[in-house]
Amino acid sequence: MAAQIIPCSSPSSSSSLAFPSEFNLCNPRKCCFSRWVSQVCPRIRTRNHFRIKTSNGHPLNAVSMQGGMDGNPLAKGINPEEQEDFFIDISDGEEAHSTLSITVVGASGDLAKKKIFPALFALYYEDWLPENFVIFGYARTKLTDEELRNMISRTLTCRIDKRANCEDKMEQFLKRCFYHSGEYSSEEHFAELDSKLKEKEAGKRSNRLFYLSIPPNIFVDVVRCASRKASSANGWTRVIVEKPFGRDSESSAELTRCLKKYLTEEQIFRIDHYLGKELVENLSVLRFSNLVFEPLWSRNYIRNVQFIFSEDFGTEGRGGYFDNYGIIRDIMQNHLLQILALFAMETPVSLDAEDIRNEKVKVLRSMKPLELEDVIIGQYKGHNKGGRTYPGYIDDSTVPSNSITPTFAAAALFINNARWDGVPFLMKAGKALHRKRAEIRVQFRHVPGNLYKRNFGTDLDKATNELVLRVQPDEAIYLKINNKVPGLGMRLDRSDLNLLYRARYPSEIPDAYERLLLDAIAGERRLFIRSDELDAAWSLFTPLLKELEAKKIAPELYPYGSRGPVGAHYLAAKYNVRWGDLGGDDD
Ligand code: BG6
Repeated sequence: MAAQIIPCSSPSSSSSLAFPSEFNLCNPRKCCFSRWVSQVCPRIRTRNHFRIKTSNGHPLNAVSMQGGMDGNPLAKGINPEEQEDFFIDISDGEEAHSTLSITVVGASGDLAKKKIFPALFALYYEDWLPENFVIFGYARTKLTDEELRNMISRTLTCRIDKRANCEDKMEQFLKRCFYHSGEYSSEEHFAELDSKLKEKEAGKRSNRLFYLSIPPNIFVDVVRCASRKASSANGWTRVIVEKPFGRDSESSAELTRCLKKYLTEEQIFRIDHYLGKELVENLSVLRFSNLVFEPLWSRNYIRNVQFIFSEDFGTEGRGGYFDNYGIIRDIMQNHLLQILALFAMETPVSLDAEDIRNEKVKVLRSMKPLELEDVIIGQYKGHNKGGRTYPGYIDDSTVPSNSITPTFAAAALFINNARWDGVPFLMKAGKALHRKRAEIRVQFRHVPGNLYKRNFGTDLDKATNELVLRVQPDEAIYLKINNKVPGLGMRLDRSDLNLLYRARYPSEIPDAYERLLLDAIAGERRLFIRSDELDAAWSLFTPLLKELEAKKIAPELYPYGSRGPVGAHYLAAKYNVRWGDLGGDDD
């Protein structure tokens, strides 16, 4: 990850520097890092946790310096225990002279209250935030600082309310939170925010992060005002943008074009929170650090791959937003496609953000255009169960009563490259289904000439191995294998080699937003979407979305709380696939 130690040629170098100009000496790929550290950074340890290190625990620069950098501690033979110290020093020297200001734009919205403030608090609780930081909420509603504190304190403790000193920490955290009320398109109001920020920053180097937790139609206004009136004058300025990034290729390109009038690509952090989920983050580790998986990762051994997202609740309360987007834009084009790209990409040159994103783009651009016959859509309808009435999608008062917006979709996708030729990649996403779950299922081919085939009866598909990565809930990785049932006879059954996270790792799993906020603060872009990735993702889905809308294809109705439309089974069957999550005994 190059951004923190200064890509000298970065177009945004004036606005996105993380270090004083004397640090701006060299390109990390070329310079001697250990010399640089010992000369420029005093070995001061002021704080235990804030360090230039990303959420995945990699020292930020260690990962990007592999290959070719003579200062790479790995290359220099620094032993692993010493590596942490090696990297800590840089941030600590810097920390005393700089401040971090995080402005949550749209502070009174749901996302801010439920996810962003709690994630910031969790980071604070765990000592991941720097010593000097402030948080500002910005929204139109007139609130005092105290009122903002009251508002966010109600949801703040989500993850750590059972932990020691939570209340004290919360009090200290809230003292760092302030509020500024303003219009989203008023440069004057952002200039007022700037004055307040400056006051808190007290002449230190200021690094500013804006989190846009607002509807997309005001992204550009806010970015214009913030960049013109509230950018940092002597540190970096970064903006996290929440999806939706447009509705199709054209609107997304237009949004990117407008944002880039005010920001460089390096300053834009397009968030897809699924990339911050533990199991998704682990996908590359699983693939690239275990010999047993990577050699099997191709059409030679994999029969099909399934990406499944289901929620056991409808769009209640979000119908207004949702009706304009639908499940394909809401979940498939971003969350599931991002996971697919990570799953299917070739081995990147390094763990550097650009190397990884280059590989993801290649996969996305190799995908076969999605065709209508490879997609089915559905919409949930009202349902009575156990004396309770569950509303249909169109029963929501914010949804037009004749809406044909899909709340469920299944699709078969293909990657036209040597590794994946002919392998169906199936996606399925739906709201108001029978359970909440997100998972990746990899179904392997049959064992050729299987000596035991008569032990499996007629359904040989049931005897193939399946690797499941359960992203949520109850994170787990398990592999279905055939095994001999202990005893004197020869009876086989299907068993799981099961890595259940809660059994193996007692510590709680951080929320995706914590990881992503931390990475944005550290300038690590690996888990954020680059504009060409976004273009490639939209190119895949836009023709299909247009066709669905032009032809006004009616969704197949499915009852709230069911397993979804039967059409999804026909689609899978067309490619000789069975959905792994509907297997009954073993899903
Ligand atoms: C969001 C979608 O991106 O992800 C929502 O807009 C969806 O519709 C949510 O409910 C799911 O996120 P998670 O982390 O709860 O699985």
